[in-house]
Amino acid sequence: MSPLFFFLWTLLTSVSAQLRSGFYVDNCPKAESVVREVLRRAMINDPRSAASVMRLQFHDCFVNGCDASLLLDDTATMLGEKLSLSNINSLRSYQVIDKAKKQVEKICPGIVSCADIIIMASRDAVVLSGGPNWEVKLGRKDSLTASQEDANNIMPSPRDNAIFLINLFDRYNLSVKDMVALSGSHSIGKGRCTSIMFRLYNQSGTGRPDPAIEPKFREKLDYLCPIGGDGNVTGDLDATPYKFDNQYFKDLVNGKGFLNSDQSLFSSDARTREYVEFFSRDEGMFFTAFIEGMLKMGDLQSGRPGEVRKDCRVANTRPMKHMEILYNFSN
Ligand code: HEM
Ligand SMILES: *[C@@H]1O[C@H](CO)[C@@H](O)[C@H](O)[C@H]1NC(C)=O
Ligand SMILES: *[C@@H]1O[C@H](CO)[C@@H](O)[C@H](O)[C@H]1NC(C)=O
Ligand SMILES: *[C@@H]1O[C@H](CO)[C@@H](O)[C@H](O)[C@H]1NC(C)=O
Repeated sequence: MSPLFFFLWTLLTSVSAQLRSGFYVDNCPKAESVVREVLRRAMINDPRSAASVMRLQFHDCFVNGCDASLLLDDTATMLGEKLSLSNINSLRSYQVIDKAKKQVEKICPGIVSCADIIIMASRDAVVLSGGPNWEVKLGRKDSLTASQEDANNIMPSPRDNAIFLINLFDRYNLSVKDMVALSGSHSIGKGRCTSIMFRLYNQSGTGRPDPAIEPKFREKLDYLCPIGGDGNVTGDLDATPYKFDNQYFKDLVNGKGFLNSDQSLFSSDARTREYVEFFSRDEGMFFTAFIEGMLKMGDLQSGRPGEVRKDCRVANTRPMKHMEILYNFSN
């Protein structure tokens, strides 16, 4: 091993760090309170930013682990994840994470990873929307690269049904219960007409609407999203889109789910329906299961080399081919 390679190698620690709560108590004790305050302020200007920030955890963690790969802007040699199929014109509030990072860098530069900021802010989004609070595990590193191709291949579509989603989440060791509880994140936020046009007018190529949609609710959605209308118009994911509660599950039981992937959890599979009914009746059980799911999802790691980025949009270290090779040797 050449000295230069060895030097580079020791600068980078593996993304597979041991995560624990209170990771920053000694070297950045204010990190969590600063992030929460940034989100609180963002929500005053844009109440939806809570939902948009929380969604970032899902889209980061499912694509090669919770490593803030999602946040990297495209470079001349790398297509990032921001413009992938599920993310383009859809993910938002990246600037809230930028703001939090800037504030945290001011008090303790080079300490707190962007990946951890996503995890903290997602928890805060739930708390500040009236949901439960919990202790997050921290100590993640930020990736050196991102993969648009992986994002395209991995992230689910609003057309997917319960069976597909059960199998997708199972690949991450997330159970049916975890998956249904995590879908309860759609208790807050909005979706675009383009995500539901097919189920309003041509479900599964039948030329007819999804029969699982309650008729009055369908009229409302048809009005919001007419054929040939603006696909960027948004509708609420549940009846209380700024409150983190179990209304989402009550809506599904009543045929008032916004996305096909939501309604399908009640209407197309007995295994998921059981949990939808359970959570619709017991908000406390939903909260408990949701926290468990968020912690499990937050544990996903890629095992690749990482760093603490200075700017969440740009890697400090230019990834090099030989570094990957070196990594494979040392593994
Ligand atoms: C189970 C599979 C899932 C599917 C198929 C799915 C799909 C979607 C879609 C299609 C949208 C609307 C996007 C648009 O129309 O622009 C959306 C929004 C959202 N998703 Fe998911 N999602 C899933 C799971 C999750 C999970 C696990 C989380 C977080 C824990 C999450 C959090 C959110 C939030 C908060 C919004 C609203 C965002 C906003 O208002 O900006 N989703 N999701
Ligand atoms: C799922 O669990 C199995 C068995 O414990 C483990 O080998 C595998 O790495 C886990 N997969 C993920 C994505 O965590
Ligand atoms: C509905 O979808 C099917 C299959 O994707 C397609 O062949 C058909 O043309 C569509 N019908 C309408 C009215 O868009
Ligand atoms: C939504 O708006 C974006 C940005 O203005 C545009 O590029 C895109 O084509 C629009 N999408 C739809 C479905 O209309």
